[in-house]
Amino acid sequence: MFSLWRKARRENSAASRLLGSTSLRFALHGWQRGKCRDENTRSEMKTMVAANQKGGVGKTATLVHLAFDALERGLRVGVVDLDTQANASWTLKEFASGYTASQMFDQSSDEVRAWFNGEVTDEPCIRLVESDAKLANMETKKLAEVGATFRSNIAALADSGFDMILIDTAPSLGVGLAAALIAADFVLSPIELETYSIQGIQKMVTAIANVRQANPKLQFLGMVPSKVDARNPRHGRHLQELEAAYPQLMIPERVGLRSSIADALASGVPVWKIRKTAARKAAKEVRALANYVFNKMEIA
Ligand SMILES: Nc1ncnc2c1ncn2[C@@H]1O[C@H](COP(=O)(O)OP(=O)(O)OP(=O)(O)O)[C@@H](O)[C@H]1O
Ligand SMILES: [Mg+2]
Repeated sequence: MFSLWRKARRENSAASRLLGSTSLRFALHGWQRGKCRDENTRSEMKTMVAANQKGGVGKTATLVHLAFDALERGLRVGVVDLDTQANASWTLKEFASGYTASQMFDQSSDEVRAWFNGEVTDEPCIRLVESDAKLANMETKKLAEVGATFRSNIAALADSGFDMILIDTAPSLGVGLAAALIAADFVLSPIELETYSIQGIQKMVTAIANVRQANPKLQFLGMVPSKVDARNPRHGRHLQELEAAYPQLMIPERVGLRSSIADALASGVPVWKIRKTAARKAAKEVRALANYVFNKMEIA
């Protein structure tokens, strides 16, 4: 029991060091020297990452709903699930492309293009690059080794016709998150208004700022309070504190604590397809958030 706890602590601190300033810059230095060849040929595809090293704060719920909303806007959306928990993969399983997340780190851009050749037509679609067990190996590799391949393969998805890529990440400051952030144009951080979640926010903001030194095009869309209980005074207090501490980083939308969202995730549909009166409020909030995010990303 104790050795397990010590092991988890060791792994965690190694991952945190990676996204801490010195080690991250060092790791990215190696990556920058081997810049991917597709960089200048990238189309207008936009890539967004949902990131927060705290678990259970609504990353997957938000990302999946952005994917459903984008589909209804007529976009061709790729969802890459970099979390071995595979929650997004479960909810979006009907959209599985057969391509797996670990292949995004192991295969060449030509292999990615070959796989998706003809898969993406003019029709709006969601194609899921699903989480697989091999993804766990990637956390043992160096960012300098896998970061360039992942970024290059995200660019290959642009060549395959996707308008947007949404990347779901695991709740840890690890190689997967760093690779996603150096490949992305935008990052969005759902947060929970609970004490433990608030305590980790500065670390997350610092990690994103550090990555921006290596990927200056990365824009932090901000933090969106999720699972907000309007009747809970602690939530109200934490929201005020956050708005005072991070006035530029707080997104002016929020998603309430609503069981219809959990129902939707469990049923593989967006919350606006849940036939309950209570789902209407949730749908309105999620749609407003999607509007905000897609406006900022300049997506029609
Ligand atoms: N607005 C909401 N209201 C109620 N429940 C929610 C809401 N958003 C998400 N949930 C539920 O809370 C749990 C955590 O949400 P979610 O999986 O989206 O968080 P996460 O940040 O992706 O977690 P992890 O870090 O473990 O991947 C899930 O069971 C989900 O169904
Ligand atoms: Mg998740």
